[in-house]
Amino acid sequence: MKLNRKDILGIQELSVEEINLILDTADSFIEISTREIKKVPTLRGKTIINLFYEASTRTRTSFEIAGKRLSADTINISASTSSVVKGETLIDTAKNLEAMNPDVIVIRHSAAGAPHMLAGLLRQSIINAGDGAHEHPTQALLDMMTIRAKKGGIAGLKVAIVGDIAHSRVARSNIHGLTKMGAAVFVAGPATMIPRDIEKMGVVVHTRIEEAIREADIIMMLRIQTEREKQNLFPSLREYAQYFSLNRKNIGLARKDVLVMHPGPMNRGVEISPDIADGPHSIILDQVTNGVAVRMALLYLLTGGNS
Ligand code: CP
Repeated sequence: MKLNRKDILGIQELSVEEINLILDTADSFIEISTREIKKVPTLRGKTIINLFYEASTRTRTSFEIAGKRLSADTINISASTSSVVKGETLIDTAKNLEAMNPDVIVIRHSAAGAPHMLAGLLRQSIINAGDGAHEHPTQALLDMMTIRAKKGGIAGLKVAIVGDIAHSRVARSNIHGLTKMGAAVFVAGPATMIPRDIEKMGVVVHTRIEEAIREADIIMMLRIQTEREKQNLFPSLREYAQYFSLNRKNIGLARKDVLVMHPGPMNRGVEISPDIADGPHSIILDQVTNGVAVRMALLYLLTGGNS
């Protein structure tokens, strides 16, 4: 099967077959990153631009590493060190990059829909590396890859997603993906951080972490997205931690073989206690490792590697 798409903009529009194709392709790329010489010539001659209007450690670095391991030329642009600071618009920036004839543009932007706008304007493939509180499709794909690898599948699992659901593009993309793949998804957070009508996405809503994580196979903890909040949504970090942190005591409510995930960056002692983040249930760094393979798969599939 081929990925018959120019762009990857969200999980919402991907079919189960497309998700499985991407995850299977990513599985086949994992081994390259374990070699002594971590490079194959697959994308030699291709050019990938990482255009980041928001801060990133994992996503930007793993896209760069993914491109380099496939022998593509990768270029990183941060809005803060580009002509954006001189007032250049997103469209003008994108049109100028298009004129240099890259093959793929990876974009992260604080505005929901920014990647979709570029996809309609440019002939290059666009990959959404996070658009506002809307979607973070490559994060959900690497999360699903990690769950599949650790649990042997996704269908039938109970997944709890806990924290600032309202402002989390990771939560939205994972809810789309995990429900499509047959998982039962439970969300929990303060009432002020749960979007109205989220049940329509096929999830069960709780306002207590204990209810959401009971008998869970997977617990996905989220950071409070203070950069997207217009006002304080809870009285203090101490109270947030008291009611919504995953810790040694409440993790006992989940299944014995529960796996703990976090997209990063973590706020230790707020949404997750350090002993859980670093403990035997944590697969947080496996997520990061798999992020490289998922991004290699997407670059490969979008540049005609499967033709
Ligand atoms: N998970 C994630 O998107 O991390 P970064 O913001 O560091 O890219």
